[in-house]
Amino acid sequence: MKNTDSYSHLRGESLYIDDLNTQQGTLYGLVFDAPIAHAKILDLDIAKAEALAGVIKIFTHKDVPGQNQIGGIIPDEPLLAETDIHFWGQPIAFIVAESEAIAKKARALITIKMEALPVITTATEAFKKGQFVCAPRTFNLGNTTDAFKNCDYVIEDFTFSNGQEHLYLETQGAYAECQENGKIKVTSSTQGPTQVQKAIAKVLGVGMHQIEVDVIRLGGGFGGKEDQATAWAAMAALAANHLHKPVKFVLNRHDDLRMTGKRHPYESTFKIGLNKDLKIQAFEATYLQNSGAAADLSPAIAERTLFHATNAYNIKNVHTTVHSCKTNLPPNTAFRGFGGPQGMFVIESAIAKAAEKLNIPAYKIQEANLLQENDEFSYGQIATQVEAQNTWQTAIKDFDFEDDVKAIQKFNTKNTELKKGISVMPICFGISFTNTPMNHARALVHIYQDGSIGFSTGAVEMGQGVNTKLKQIVVQTLGLSSDKIIVETTNTTRVANTSPSAASATADLNGKALQLACDSLKERLLNVASEELQLDKKNLTIKNASVYNQQKSTYLTWESLVQMAFLKRVNLSEQAHYATPEIHFDKTKEKGHPFAYHVYGTAISTATVDCIRGTYDIDSVKIIHDFGKSMNLDIDMGQIEGALAQGIGWMTMEEIAYDKNGRLLSNALSTYKVPDVFAMPEIVEVKALESAGHEMAILKSKAVGEPPLMYGIGTYFAIQNAIKAFNKNHSLKFDAPMTPEKVLKNLYQN
Ligand code: MTE
Ligand code: HPA
Ligand code: MOS
Repeated sequence: MKNTDSYSHLRGESLYIDDLNTQQGTLYGLVFDAPIAHAKILDLDIAKAEALAGVIKIFTHKDVPGQNQIGGIIPDEPLLAETDIHFWGQPIAFIVAESEAIAKKARALITIKMEALPVITTATEAFKKGQFVCAPRTFNLGNTTDAFKNCDYVIEDFTFSNGQEHLYLETQGAYAECQENGKIKVTSSTQGPTQVQKAIAKVLGVGMHQIEVDVIRLGGGFGGKEDQATAWAAMAALAANHLHKPVKFVLNRHDDLRMTGKRHPYESTFKIGLNKDLKIQAFEATYLQNSGAAADLSPAIAERTLFHATNAYNIKNVHTTVHSCKTNLPPNTAFRGFGGPQGMFVIESAIAKAAEKLNIPAYKIQEANLLQENDEFSYGQIATQVEAQNTWQTAIKDFDFEDDVKAIQKFNTKNTELKKGISVMPICFGISFTNTPMNHARALVHIYQDGSIGFSTGAVEMGQGVNTKLKQIVVQTLGLSSDKIIVETTNTTRVANTSPSAASATADLNGKALQLACDSLKERLLNVASEELQLDKKNLTIKNASVYNQQKSTYLTWESLVQMAFLKRVNLSEQAHYATPEIHFDKTKEKGHPFAYHVYGTAISTATVDCIRGTYDIDSVKIIHDFGKSMNLDIDMGQIEGALAQGIGWMTMEEIAYDKNGRLLSNALSTYKVPDVFAMPEIVEVKALESAGHEMAILKSKAVGEPPLMYGIGTYFAIQNAIKAFNKNHSLKFDAPMTPEKVLKNLYQN
């Protein structure tokens, strides 16, 4: 099926928050934020700003009728600052005016007196000072201490991976409208409508039933709107509730970049032990997660780092600890991969370092340790339906890896200024929210009297194509054509208590619920058909919008069947619920079976480095990916390419920079480089692994949203191998992203 949004996207008719028709009398919001990263507020003077013509009101924490609190997992984040400032860009006041231009003028008139406090910007600094947003977590398997004693080689080092700006095309925003009896409706650009509903209810001190959140679609979320769409919606709702006027608040790009959190930077240390046969015997790592000034989703992200600490490898002795370090940066948050990529970068660095010491290519160690059927992950889950070997071997064979290696060796002996490198990157990513209680979803399907269908789920469309996949499920289950079916907006009054659209599990969870609802409706309608046709229900199906009896069409069309059912007073609506079976996790033991299944794949990357200039090209990335039985290969391929681009960006060019005072320096697209079409490899080849798929994946089509981001990690090591070909005495350093500046240093320093 074609992407359901392609028609309106192409015509520029798809609606985002900023496109909504505003009601008469709509007011506009703007945040006054902290101009310093850590301070005590001595005095806030809003009088002059509030007196400006066209300014309606300026809200501070004192105007919050309920709780001034938006922390999702831990209540440690005020909506508007009270006595202290904890990061540069922290919202302090919310200006509401007749226009955005007036609000902007008013913002310049607010004055604040502060007493500056010491600023922490790095995880190590926070760690040394004992500043954390939550307790550390440790996963343990076997006994690393004993195992290291018997290793032929033991290697230790440290790594750094930087943050990453989400750069969704649509910035954060919301539109809040008052309804009768104190009810508020908020249209929000959020991945988590229920999160937004819950937070607003808390801030306003009302029940969740007073708040309706509606989501049309997002111009991208990438994790940045899983938890961090909440504040802006809550501010708009706060103002609308107080003023009894509609309030629109869409952040401009500068404000969005400055005020929102990003992927977590990680500072990590590792110790890896292996034997002469290249089998990894033990792996230890300590991850210092730079959580920023509040917990946000950091505890869950830290957990996923531990889940993916050994990537696609089987290691019998593992000891990993993560510390969520509290710094004076905006609270860092979910970003495609959710801490998994940060963990995988460390194990890949450890293997690269071991390979350097043994003077062999890293892929020899990788290959020798790939996960196999019935291996145990450090968190106790037993690996089944493992495709690590399969994707690896297929990639090596189908993409003529050995030939490439030889060609690169030849190229490198012939060339002095240009050097090439190659790397292999296997991935293994667990599907399910790591927090088991989040893994359920609901769907609501209405068949109208004329046979057309409208359905709702908790899924949020953010460009990943989930609405198309959902529509396919209805088409397939009810045997109809897609023009009779509409996907409704995601709305908390139609589908309640939703988990955010995240963890790559949206189509699985919501799709399974939708499938159950459609199955029930089909059963009900076939009962009617069986009665009407006087035929055994077992032999009846619906396809091509008609009732079929054993492969032969009957006179009963879909429309007439629906009409008949309605007249017989049969319920044409259905609500269904799906909860992932089998999964569980015991946090007191840090053991369990948290994932429905894993997604596998292998990427081969090649890069060319200009050893005079330090610039580089990623020449090719060739991927064997385990889609299971893809239900929509066009959409899934789009997800692979997009995720790969983001992975390459994170690993090679996107460089978040804060100064030592905690001010964002990379605060515009002139100072923050994201991959464009020229940065993408000239060759991107993606092939689907022939595989059976997984029962817990919707229609056996495995989740695809996040896993391919981690193929990008391979490009980092391809560049490193090219550097190594030029600078033989170079000792590998793991400091991502690999910008041209760092390439140059690595080329000429040891
Ligand atoms: N693709 C697009 N185009 N836009 C997005 O915002 N988000 C990613 C991924 N792919 C995203 C995307 C992230 S972080 C996740 S978790 C998944 O999509 C969420 O959607 P899914 O669960 O339907 O895969
Ligand atoms: N992935 C993504 N988002 C989440 C998760 C997860 O495992 N847990 C809570 N939010
Ligand atoms: Mo994705 S980081 O789980 O929104």
